[in-house]
Amino acid sequence: MRNSPFTVVVLISGNGSNLQSLINRKISDKGTSYEIAAVISNKLNAHGLKRAKAANIPTLVIDHTRHSTREDFDAELIKEIDLFSPSLIVLAGFMRILTTSFVNHFKERLINIHPSLLPLYPGTNTHQRALDAGDRQHGVSVHYVTDQLDGGPIIAHASVCISPQDDAKSLSEKVLANEHLLYPEVVNWFAQGRVRLEKHRVHLDNKILPPNGFTFERAPKSI
Ligand code: GAR
Repeated sequence: MRNSPFTVVVLISGNGSNLQSLINRKISDKGTSYEIAAVISNKLNAHGLKRAKAANIPTLVIDHTRHSTREDFDAELIKEIDLFSPSLIVLAGFMRILTTSFVNHFKERLINIHPSLLPLYPGTNTHQRALDAGDRQHGVSVHYVTDQLDGGPIIAHASVCISPQDDAKSLSEKVLANEHLLYPEVVNWFAQGRVRLEKHRVHLDNKILPPNGFTFERAPKSI
């Protein structure tokens, strides 16, 4: 049992609906074991900053356009994140490619949510790519971050069915609804000390997970 709170720093670039789901879970489920210490955005106008402020969470903007190199930006980001000594860094729609130094600095404490069933469709435009490929299933994955783009060990995923009527917008809505259930659940697993990485394999409750992580057959605890 931990004595100190399990704190997370959330990094965002935009709307921050996943951040909101992490906040909502704290409010609706008193058994939630994480605290959000700060929200950091690389964009001044990210709507997620408003969400954080409304929840009385400290915010910070580190504008990447004011840094001449990726290394310079990431060094500043590391410095600011370290001030909060977080247990976990949660990327929630943080649309930056991170340097190896950044990833190594936060090794095994850095996770991301990605709107596809990884290893399918790393990068952007995932919903349209799933439709173009004629896939019947699509979804969301939560994974450890390594210096491979969207390529780190997968912790969990949730699937959605693609219907003939779906377009990229409707599909993104279906996937996002699952993101909002999955991410708080996985962050809470970390807070409860249930997840660890050993020899590049993800363990949940001391059991090795398959390469595509834990499967949510249906929506986890509703928030
Ligand atoms: C989410 O769909 C998230 O999975 C995706 O950006 C969106 C952010 O939405 N992240 C990536 O594509 C990372 N590769 P939000 O700002 O409303 O949480």
